[in-house]
Amino acid sequence: VIFDSSLEASILVAKEIANLIHRKEELNEPCVLGLATGSSPIKVYEELVRMHKEEGLSFKNVITFNLDEYYPMDKDNIQSYHYFMHDHLFDHVDISPEHINIPDGTVSFEELRQSCIDYEMKIKSYGGLDFQLLGIGRTGHIGFNEPGSHINSGTRSITLDHITRIDAAPSFLGIDNVPRKAITMGIGTVRSAKRIVLLAWGISKAEILKKTIEGDVTSQVPATYLQEHNNTTFVLDSEASSEL
Ligand code: GLP
Repeated sequence: VIFDSSLEASILVAKEIANLIHRKEELNEPCVLGLATGSSPIKVYEELVRMHKEEGLSFKNVITFNLDEYYPMDKDNIQSYHYFMHDHLFDHVDISPEHINIPDGTVSFEELRQSCIDYEMKIKSYGGLDFQLLGIGRTGHIGFNEPGSHINSGTRSITLDHITRIDAAPSFLGIDNVPRKAITMGIGTVRSAKRIVLLAWGISKAEILKKTIEGDVTSQVPATYLQEHNNTTFVLDSEASSEL
């Protein structure tokens, strides 16, 4: 779906999420949301915060699982996705802290594998993700599933692609400060979500979106795996869609 403005698009996506939260509330079931970081979802979070403050949208029945985190990474580091999520969403709504799940960038190397398995199991224990919000990296990554990721991959540690590190360099004040590794939900984890919405804005995403939407399904562009998911919508602005 192509919109003239990313703001208009973000408001509609936030509405879809709010409707899902309401529906689950009526059923007395938890609403399990997979959330993303990066600049793309910021306006969606702003709109959800506005709905909480002005329209009484409650996050009491919401459980969240974030896609990824740098490794190693302290939670209070301003470059952490932990910090990002609290800053843009969690600190401004009534979500219970026990319902927030973000891959833990502070575990030791020895504990890393088990903590990824535990993360995956925890998602499954809630019956899987009801909704997954995604951005896309210029490498075609979703979460931090870089080229080469397997379609059935689960939550794991991954080595970041050089392009991804270049794109992250400004916020780390130089590429040398960008971690080389991250923890990410797998492609399999993401694809098990009942509903997926990928957001992409701006001309810098146009080329990778052409490959993602019109190219062959390949592990070299992990986002192409979404072509084989039956309830995914790509929400784009006119610049991001300009190569389609
Ligand atoms: C990071 C995140 C991705 C995100 C991507 C794009 O690499 N791990 O989940 O999709 O950035 O970021 P942006 O939305 O800022 O373009």
